[in-house]
Amino acid sequence: MVNNTNAKPRDAWGSRLGFIMAAAGSAVGLGNIWKFPYTAGESGGGAFVAIYLFFVIFIGFSVMLTEFAIGRKTGLSAVGAFKSTDRRWSFVGIMGVLSGLLIMGFYPVVGGWSIAYIYKIASGLLSTPEAIGDSFGGFISNPVQPLMWMALYLFLNILIVIRGISGGIEKAGKILMPLLFVILIIVSVKGLTLPGSSEGLKFLFSPDFSVVDSNVVLAALGQAFFSLSLGMGAMITYGSYLKKKENLVQNTAMVTAMDTGVAILAGIAMFPAMFAFGMEPAAGPGLVFVVVPQLFAEMGGMIGLLLALLFFIGLSVAALTSSVSLLEVVVSYLIDEKGMKRPTAVISSSVVMASLCVLASLSLGGVGPTLFDTGAFDIFDLLTDKIFLAVGGMFICIFAGWRLKRDELEKEITNDGEVSFPLFGLWYNLVKFVIPGLIAIVAIAGIMSGFDSGKGAIMVMGLVIIGLAALFSKKL
Ligand code: TRP
Repeated sequence: MVNNTNAKPRDAWGSRLGFIMAAAGSAVGLGNIWKFPYTAGESGGGAFVAIYLFFVIFIGFSVMLTEFAIGRKTGLSAVGAFKSTDRRWSFVGIMGVLSGLLIMGFYPVVGGWSIAYIYKIASGLLSTPEAIGDSFGGFISNPVQPLMWMALYLFLNILIVIRGISGGIEKAGKILMPLLFVILIIVSVKGLTLPGSSEGLKFLFSPDFSVVDSNVVLAALGQAFFSLSLGMGAMITYGSYLKKKENLVQNTAMVTAMDTGVAILAGIAMFPAMFAFGMEPAAGPGLVFVVVPQLFAEMGGMIGLLLALLFFIGLSVAALTSSVSLLEVVVSYLIDEKGMKRPTAVISSSVVMASLCVLASLSLGGVGPTLFDTGAFDIFDLLTDKIFLAVGGMFICIFAGWRLKRDELEKEITNDGEVSFPLFGLWYNLVKFVIPGLIAIVAIAGIMSGFDSGKGAIMVMGLVIIGLAALFSKKL
């Protein structure tokens, strides 16, 4: 169907719904349900949410459309897509593969927590609500237990990705995404009926911009990229499997709306309940794992237990459909560029990811190497979420705006003039001028304020890595 470096026929999505579900499956994940609420909680609530929404609409949407267009136009995965146009640009794809590896260096750790919570809830966690908070802290800092769950999680990923694109990913997405959505609505409704819950809504939706500094703005930008699966070519890879007759703009709008909807819904599920329980919004990465079980413990009885189980099953599935796309970026690079067979590619990248995850998981218990006083988990998160994704997105826009031709892009996005996209000019100018400039400003300001802690140094390290990749791009 689409041309490929080795001219092998490329797998394609079985159906339109299959593609949307898989792309939304990639986007909706721990980023929405685990990361968004706790980052919003730590970053002052409403103002963070407002800035995040602004970035989703003005940057996220446009970058996703760009990624889909590049992917479908070239029919290649992240690295190949750039390389086939201009070898000097392959570093953007390589950065993407590296981001995929690094995100997969902590994502399965949290995915493992989620699976562990299915087991913990089934074996009576809810019967002692007072102990739920301490139990989380004890669990994640335990050196052995989380690793076993992480291994199980990674194993499930491997199974799905080894089966290839339409067989594995598409089926998983189609069945399990709607389930999660329904559970989140139930959780939200329950949270909103608790006394005192309206404070939570206020926290989430009435912005107090006086708490905003450049850290918060960079966090919101990073969150937008992370949540929408942008900036590392995951959506380029997905777009490469997309049929020529599909409407890219519509697909982009639906995926963006679904992802953002779930994040906001997760916020509504979490904060009202937290305020009702008198908990601190800045509870950190444990937020979902503490609030949600408490909420269901409060509900009590079989219903509470059942919903709690379903919630963590849903969360685990949402996480899986996301990490599958991260693994897929690395795997399709190895298949397309290095000529590996799929199973070999899957196994070898998983070995690297598993090793990084061991470091990340141990770092939460204070074990293992640190850099500028920061453990592996936070380093991987900082490098990807705060630097690689946003800067990657910046380069993807610069590539599309300055290296590709305007009419080529217009043809791709409008399917050779068959679908109309009246905002094409606006999109093009955003991608060519506004977004790269905005990302550069936000990133620089964020890095500067990161120097109060060791974070700035780590982020600068990220920039150096990007610079080196660009320098050696012809060899990559
Ligand atoms: N978006 C996913 C989430 O919110 C994570 C993810 C999957 C991702 N693929 C990605 C993030 C590619 C960045 C790039 O959980």
